[in-house]
Amino acid sequence: MPAVISTAGLARTFRTKTGPVDAVRDLDLTVHEGEILGFLGPNGAGKTTTLRMLTTLLRPTGGAATVAGCDLATDPVGVRRASGYVAQSGGVDPQITVREELVTQGRMYRLPRPEAIARAAELARELDLTGLLDRRAGALSGGQRRRLDIAMALTHRPKVLFLDEPTTGLDPGSRADLWDLVRRLRDEHGTTVFLTTHYLDEADALADRLVVVDGGTVAAEGTPSALRLRYGGSLDATLQDTFLAITGRGPAPADSAPVAV
Ligand SMILES: Nc1ncnc2c1ncn2[C@@H]1O[C@H](COP(=O)(O)OP(=O)(O)OP(=O)(O)O)[C@@H](O)[C@H]1O
Ligand SMILES: [Mg+2]
Repeated sequence: MPAVISTAGLARTFRTKTGPVDAVRDLDLTVHEGEILGFLGPNGAGKTTTLRMLTTLLRPTGGAATVAGCDLATDPVGVRRASGYVAQSGGVDPQITVREELVTQGRMYRLPRPEAIARAAELARELDLTGLLDRRAGALSGGQRRRLDIAMALTHRPKVLFLDEPTTGLDPGSRADLWDLVRRLRDEHGTTVFLTTHYLDEADALADRLVVVDGGTVAAEGTPSALRLRYGGSLDATLQDTFLAITGRGPAPADSAPVAV
């Protein structure tokens, strides 16, 4: 399978008043076409920073990367054309309607107005937003708003979809719908999905492969089963225990437990 995302030594250091923060360090990643990649890691591990670099919103301070064959540094327009991004917190305008949001997004991708209108209707059907087209974006529930974010990211039928915690705050039904959508994108359109989540059951159910980052760099990668075997001790290990073992935040060994007095 050809690689659709490839990074080599990717890095981002933020300069802050209290000194430099190495949010991402020496990150080497390969994601294959049509793969659903679960990108996991504790709070502050560098997931969002990585996604922002791979979608050209943030300039790397080191290393290189390509997305759909386009180099981040020399062809950012190509990268943007090939990718859709749903940010950790959505960026819709609360005053305008769902229909206007979707049509405006289509126009931003230079669709002629009739096509932008048709695409908006199509996306609304896909994301179960048809009944909400005339509602103000500001009046949507959290889950409805998340579906709108995703619809907007799919406007130009991107080859790669970056989803930063797409199901946070969704009810179980909406979560299941989103999983179906992600699988359908992969199966019917060959879309590559790069997804971060803190829900390990979600990573287990959805991802073909997991990459765990910690401290800005890759701590482990493999299929959920391979990671269980290697870090959790057996195929029956929970992904939670496996994750905690990888990130060194597992339960303290018995002999170091505090002694009750
Ligand atoms: N603009 C910024 N300026 C300074 N530091 C930043 C900036 N953006 C992120 N950081 C720092 O970089 C590190 C990585 O942050 P990032 O948002 O990538 O983590 P994350 O893995 O997405 O975490 P979470 O699971 O909480 O969303 C953190 O220490 C964060 O405080
Ligand atoms: Mg984040």
